Amino acid sequence: MKITTKLPIVALLALGMTGSIVHATEPAMVESAEQAEAVLESRSEFMKGMGSAMRAFTNYLKRGDGEPLELAAMASEIAENAPSIPDLFPKDTGMAQFEDSEAKAVIWEKWDDFVDAANGLVEPAMAVEAAFESGDKGEVAASVKALGGNGCRTCHETFRQKKDN
Ligand code: HEC
Repeated sequence: MKITTKLPIVALLALGMTGSIVHATEPAMVESAEQAEAVLESRSEFMKGMGSAMRAFTNYLKRGDGEPLELAAMASEIAENAPSIPDLFPKDTGMAQFEDSEAKAVIWEKWDDFVDAANGLVEPAMAVEAAFESGDKGEVAASVKALGGNGCRTCHETFRQKKDN
């Protein structure tokens, strides 16, 4: 089996677990606590990367910060990587096992829904890319809102237990 999607944001290869990744039909497994910690770290970095992309989109709308084409490329990267999100959630690497995690156990109970939620990010992210390429600010605003709402929030509502609030 080979991985069809690479994660430029996260070097999954560095985790030495890519051999066990059969794309998303079943959760991957971790073989050691070290591997689990590494996954948690990559997961966090990846999510934070998407968080800063969202902030960059918002700052463009608020203050005109950033180059539309660079922002389009960031949206494209989200669309490309979204289907690989489940690879960052090997079985039982959530808040039940790790104090730092905000990942709910329901991820592994409703794995197909989780995979759907990850894939659900692709289209809204592509719409953001198209909007930045068109240069139409109204479209950028609408598509960024849809990405945050339908894409990020839909998954977080069900699968993430945010700490400290
Ligand atoms: C398929 C589900 C899913 C999607 C889609 C998703 N997330 Fe997440 N996100 C999670 C889960 C689950 C966690 C908690 C992970 C953990 O703590 O182990 C998380 C955590 C985060 C965090 C906290 C990371 C940290 O370690 O501090 C940020 C920031 C974040 N997501 C941003 C985003 C943004 C922005 C998007 C949309 C562009 C997004 N996420 C889309 C499931 C998702």
